[in-house]
Amino acid sequence: MMNSLQTLHMSHDCSSIDPLYGFKLDKRRRFTFRAEVPKISSCLVSDKQQKAKAGSAKPLSRASEKVIEIERNVFVGTYARAPVVLKSGKGCKVYDVDGKEYLDMTAGIAVNSLGHSDPDWINAVIEQANTLTHVSNVYHSLPQVTLGKRLVECSFADRIFFTNSGTEANEAAIKFSRKFQRHSHPEENFPATEFIAFSNSFHGRTLGALALTSKEQYRLPFEPVMPGVTFVEYGNIKEALKAIQSGKTAAVFVEPIQGEGGIFSATKDFLQLLRTACDDSGALLVFDEVQCGLGRTGHLWAHEAFDVTPDIMTLAKPLAGGLPIGVVLTTERVAAAISSGDHGSTFAGSPLVCHAALAVLDKIQNPDFLASVSRKGLYLKELLLKKLGENPHVKEVRGFGLIVGIELDVQASPLVDACRDAGLLVLTAGKGNVVRLVPPLIISEQELEYAVEVLSACLPSLDGNSNTSS
Ligand SMILES: Cc1ncc(COP(=O)(O)O)c(C=O)c1O
Repeated sequence: MMNSLQTLHMSHDCSSIDPLYGFKLDKRRRFTFRAEVPKISSCLVSDKQQKAKAGSAKPLSRASEKVIEIERNVFVGTYARAPVVLKSGKGCKVYDVDGKEYLDMTAGIAVNSLGHSDPDWINAVIEQANTLTHVSNVYHSLPQVTLGKRLVECSFADRIFFTNSGTEANEAAIKFSRKFQRHSHPEENFPATEFIAFSNSFHGRTLGALALTSKEQYRLPFEPVMPGVTFVEYGNIKEALKAIQSGKTAAVFVEPIQGEGGIFSATKDFLQLLRTACDDSGALLVFDEVQCGLGRTGHLWAHEAFDVTPDIMTLAKPLAGGLPIGVVLTTERVAAAISSGDHGSTFAGSPLVCHAALAVLDKIQNPDFLASVSRKGLYLKELLLKKLGENPHVKEVRGFGLIVGIELDVQASPLVDACRDAGLLVLTAGKGNVVRLVPPLIISEQELEYAVEVLSACLPSLDGNSNTSS
């Protein structure tokens, strides 16, 4: 049995370590293995950090400047985009308008699991575009039924509902939870309508999902959002048990592994206790696997590693290989509460998107493919520890499969910018102090080695950065 805090030396072979847990530097700057829940607070990148990021070092080409200038003049300014205009992609590489090549460790924010221009995915899109693209949900269509049946068969669920995005999937899960409570307690004038969510959570930008998203900066400008959400510290079992209340809590929303919040993993104990508390109180347990689901952890579903089953699971990002899709998977018991007309969408589950998703699912569901994700995830962490671990700015390397975070003691944006200039695309997470690596799941070991070499070479960009993280 391992101690909860067991020291690992830098030369340690990481393949013997359970990928669920993080590696942390101790006071003597050795990496330690820790099994306890990390203490964490608020999340995501601030506007100020994003603005700083937008002002990148390298001068832009005329072609890029022209595109960015048009956008500056006509777009609503919701995005502080990196100053790169991308034109094409193949495998794990993308190319800008000047022909510069980038290794893509972002996968369109954990979307392009098969990389760019996967030939089978392209064939599926062309085939279906030539057959039938959209019919609305007034009619049945073959790809939607085939995909729905496949997803039900390979998950805990009995029933499925399609949406167009992650936030819409969570919005549907909110409505289903409330309707379930109303349906289960017809005698109650005021059935349970409230929700529990967690620190560092990210569930989306529409007013229900936004209400479940922890970062105040995202919510406050749009108040009042959906009322009745209580935030509990992620991993804090005692507080969660206190907050989940019979007759009050309709559902508990939790990401088994938090992505935007900084790559924090739940523990088995935490999720199992949430399961028990939900069962005892009559609340539903909702796993948001929009970012961590469908193979990213090396398991088809992230929650498989914890041996806990939800009542509802939401999915989105990788499922259709870059086309917009969202999914709610649930049990017969919950679905029985939902009637015709309770929810719907014009675009959701179109033949085109569902046929493309079947091509993605065919590949990701393969046990050899999933095993390769686990293997590459371990290799990536091993390389990161070896090449970056000695740097005083690196506090922790953590993650699970190919969702990996490098926590720094300073803001990550100078490193992200330097990597981009050097031809490597990476993301931030957490409070802007975490480098997030969510590459296409098809990435090769050589590409991972290249990514770590670039990250390592760009580390000096963090020196002299006085913007420390708390
Ligand atoms: C865990 C999680 N839930 C929901 C969402 C929202 O998904 P979308 O941007 O497709 O609405 C995201 C997006 O990053 C996410 O990471």
